[in-house]
Amino acid sequence: MPGLSRFVLLTAMAIEMTTTRTPLRERLVIGNWKMHGNLADNAKLLAALRPATTATTSAQLAVCVPFPYLAQAAEALKGSSVSWGAQDISVQKQGAFTGEVSASMLKDFGCTWALVGHSERRSMHAETDQLVADKAQAALAAGLIPVVCVGESLAERDAGQAISVIQRQLAPVLALGAEAVNKLVVAYEPVWAIGTGRTATPEQAQEVHAAIRAALQAIGAGNVQILYGGSVKAANAASLFSMPDIDGALVGGAALVADEFLAIAA
Ligand code: 13P
Repeated sequence: MPGLSRFVLLTAMAIEMTTTRTPLRERLVIGNWKMHGNLADNAKLLAALRPATTATTSAQLAVCVPFPYLAQAAEALKGSSVSWGAQDISVQKQGAFTGEVSASMLKDFGCTWALVGHSERRSMHAETDQLVADKAQAALAAGLIPVVCVGESLAERDAGQAISVIQRQLAPVLALGAEAVNKLVVAYEPVWAIGTGRTATPEQAQEVHAAIRAALQAIGAGNVQILYGGSVKAANAASLFSMPDIDGALVGGAALVADEFLAIAA
């Protein structure tokens, strides 16, 4: 091999070995609008996000909007690099399930993402770990990317159970196998940090992210993106993102303010 190409190859290998983030673990920032918005406000917010690209924000951007506004998001973001998704899906494929929305319906008109197992659904709709894993599987079967949310309560953290709770929540998801798990995204959202203004410190978040990474690695899915969520804002994003196992954020309140959301991604 000529000297120069050998040098280039060795340099590339050295960079590869020292880089913790592989191309599969692109920075990803997803806004979860929860039950907020109306046509007029959404139009302004989506128009402000529309020009964002990975060049301007250094992260892939997405929004998960309430069901009635999915079509509005699809239209407003068409041709942009901002993708969009839903906040939940039915575990069922189709049938007499009044009020439910299936993964294939969402896929039908171009949806990319589906949050599953958000703590608000686990706590207010009694969603079990197994149901969440089944929803992740339903999303994958329809070609959506599930964002599987996990997180401990304050009482569980205070009892020293944060990591064991996360492992329990993830177990049925990991049981879907490496092929499935490699296609999804995990979001760690400590319940005590959601909407409270009380963010986990970067070190607290990293500790749990590292445990999630280890569990993923153990089944051959170590490059899955793991997002942090819970009172993420522009002021704390950089320190969270500096942690080796934090690949991005799932943002609630701050995702409703275009400048703040874009600043998090930047
Ligand atoms: P906040 O960013 O408002 O704390 O919400 C986090 C969240 O639940 C995102 O899914």
